[in-house]
Amino acid sequence: MSEGCRSSSVDRGEHVRTTNDDQRATNHMERERVPYQKIIFVCVNTREPHETCCAHRGSEAIAASLKARVKALGLSRAVRVSKSGCQDLCAKGPNVMVFPDDVWYHGVTHEDVERIIQDTVRGLQPAASPVPPPV
Ligand code: FES
Repeated sequence: MSEGCRSSSVDRGEHVRTTNDDQRATNHMERERVPYQKIIFVCVNTREPHETCCAHRGSEAIAASLKARVKALGLSRAVRVSKSGCQDLCAKGPNVMVFPDDVWYHGVTHEDVERIIQDTVRGLQPAASPVPPPV
């Protein structure tokens, strides 16, 4: 866009988007490293009552149990339990993904919470250890 065009638009009271505007528009975004060593994503997606979904199979309670266990172990700074939307395997739910382990658990029940926790804390950096024994 030429300066002449920009000036005439401003004279008419219009806001003309400039390169500086584009830079300001993106400057609000910050980028930093993820502060957690592991993230456990629990699908809590809800569908209609007659449809299959993780929420209908108790995934909210599973997420709460995972969160409580991480907190009880003092690992909240290293491991994040995060509720997610649909993971696109509804029929196999409740579904839980763990990153960066690239592990995906299906058909999770309360009895599986401790196994997921033990699998997840394995390999944490020493600052997040010691790894407590299973309950
Ligand atoms: S509702 Fe959980 S995977 Fe679709």
